[in-house]
Amino acid sequence: MITMDTSIFSFRLDGQLAVVTGGGMGIGAAISVALASAGARIVVVDRDESAASGTVENLCTSGHPAEAVILDISDEASVTHEMERLVARVGAPNILINNAGLQHRKLLLDTNAQEWDRMHAVNTRGAFLMLRECSKAMIAAGIQGRVVNICSLGILHPMIWGLAAYASSKGGVMALTRNAAFELAAHGITVNAVLPGGVATPGAMAATGPAVAGPALRGSPLGQCEPVDIAAAVVFLASPAARFITAQSLCVDAGFLLS
Ligand SMILES: NC(=O)c1ccc[n+]([C@@H]2O[C@H](COP(=O)([O-])OP(=O)(O)OC[C@H]3O[C@@H](n4cnc5c(N)ncnc54)[C@H](O)[C@@H]3O)[C@@H](O)[C@H]2O)c1
Repeated sequence: MITMDTSIFSFRLDGQLAVVTGGGMGIGAAISVALASAGARIVVVDRDESAASGTVENLCTSGHPAEAVILDISDEASVTHEMERLVARVGAPNILINNAGLQHRKLLLDTNAQEWDRMHAVNTRGAFLMLRECSKAMIAAGIQGRVVNICSLGILHPMIWGLAAYASSKGGVMALTRNAAFELAAHGITVNAVLPGGVATPGAMAATGPAVAGPALRGSPLGQCEPVDIAAAVVFLASPAARFITAQSLCVDAGFLLS
């Protein structure tokens, strides 16, 4: 007879505190709802106050405890100050989901250095600052936490024209994921990445810039992913079932890479 500890076959996150950046809308809002459904208390970190309040109100109305912290993740002083205040108020997070990001398109030859820097300031530096502050708090509290960084399939395969700066910034997030996983394993903290394919969200629909498909790419064999599909992968990586998974990247692309 095979005996084993089946308690790790769990996706429950009861009693855990989860910080979700960009939780005000799109994929981040879906991740917030999914983690809350699994039992976590949610902190929505977003620069858009009304979007963040919308998610928090939605969660609280459904009986899930949640609160919002309004900040720009690219601003080091704000991240440091607000995360210190959060930890003093409610304790260190068990889970960080680095989801907030910019996804404006601009053809490579038209991109100026300021646009390049802003993309990297939010997508790459912002993810680093949140990871650094939340990890420090986890370590100080003795929490073997979970970090999930939302990257993009665009780091593995170009999808449409105009995403060079974006893909570069997300490539940095993937490198950050692996190196952070390497250093933080000593503290029992796992760091993984989810790479979504195209998902119809408010940000994706409103993204400025040319929507030039470039040379023909076939679509995703399984159809179009929805925010909930990305959220499901995140819940898995944050759950007890994924306790020994770190430095990995999980594509949720409806099979795009097969095409
Ligand atoms: N939608 C897609 O097709 C797709 C594909 C691959 C990866 N992604 C990634 O998934 C993540 C979420 O994408 P989405 O489509 O839901 O985006 P979205 O634009 O719909 O939502 C992003 C949220 O992040 C917040 N935000 C943006 N910049 C911020 C900052 N500097 N500080 C704090 N909050 C900030 C916004 O206010 C918003 O609430 C992003 O990192 C994006 O790059 C999206």
